[in-house]
Amino acid sequence: TEALRIGIAGLGTVGAALFSAITARHTMLTQICGREIRIVAVSARDRGRDRGIDLSGVTWFDDPVELARSGEIDVLVELMGGDSDPALSTVRTALGRGVHVVTANKALLARHGVDLATIAEEHGVLLNFEAAVAGGIPVIKAMRESLTGNSISRVYGILNGTCNYILTRMQRENMGFADCLAEAQRLGYAEADPAFDIEGNDTAHKLAILTSLAFGTKIACDEVYIEGITNITIDDIHAADELGYRIKLLGVAQRTETGIEQRVHPTMVPKDSMIAQVDGVTNAVTIEADILGELMLSGPGAGGDATASAVLGDIADIAKSRPGHQHGPALGRPAASLEPYRQAE
Ligand code: HSE
Repeated sequence: TEALRIGIAGLGTVGAALFSAITARHTMLTQICGREIRIVAVSARDRGRDRGIDLSGVTWFDDPVELARSGEIDVLVELMGGDSDPALSTVRTALGRGVHVVTANKALLARHGVDLATIAEEHGVLLNFEAAVAGGIPVIKAMRESLTGNSISRVYGILNGTCNYILTRMQRENMGFADCLAEAQRLGYAEADPAFDIEGNDTAHKLAILTSLAFGTKIACDEVYIEGITNITIDDIHAADELGYRIKLLGVAQRTETGIEQRVHPTMVPKDSMIAQVDGVTNAVTIEADILGELMLSGPGAGGDATASAVLGDIADIAKSRPGHQHGPALGRPAASLEPYRQAE
């Protein structure tokens, strides 16, 4: 079998971690997937930067769209971020040319996910995005595959590692907000613009993707009520503590009488609840499903390695897939739910 040729667009924290993981486990991956996974090309902004990876033997593209249309790759891994160009045109170009896409870009999917899934379907290729929601936690797989046939009533959780890291350190160590954020940035958890983390938009993007999969609806990011953690003080955290609560930034999506409600805001959760124990960069997602009952998944929600792990799983799925095979329904289609919620006109 021929090698699966990978092109990586974006060599930041996640891109570099993915490159290292694939290089270091080359033989093992070949055995598991039944064919070689070979990184043949990359593109990034700054060619000269030292990323601690050996790029010799790999074709360099200054322009990610050129990488997408090069004809040299079978899979484009989009790790640039951002909900518009160049990420959008890169992914569109790849899918339109019959190249599979793996992306960790929640902002892009929250805005263009259904369109991109449609292009992928039309061209018979896969658009995989496990890494876009809750870092390394396999929640997309759970939604698209494991929960098939269940009707989902509610999905909620801690979906931003940076915010949970900040809230945890403020609570445990009395560390100030700005210092906690700087540390989250240093550890590679935060977005390029950390306002997306602390103002709640990143959580909203991820929630909107989960909502679409849970209820078979279009992705309606604009309908999410959003309040971030920028106003939370150490005093608030101590006051909550005295009352027996922890403060967590939650994203919640649920069926109501009038439709699907989606909201993101700091929430007081009882100290002895499971979600209150989820600390640091760890994320957690709870899904209430009618056949299964309540499922809670938790694990590393941000950072290079955790995110690279999810991307690698998506690449391996493509390596093992047969042409035309879909890993469950696409975005905007009923996934787990038997009775997809019909959006009010
Ligand atoms: N900035 C994001 C977070 C990265 O902190 O959760 C993972 O999506």
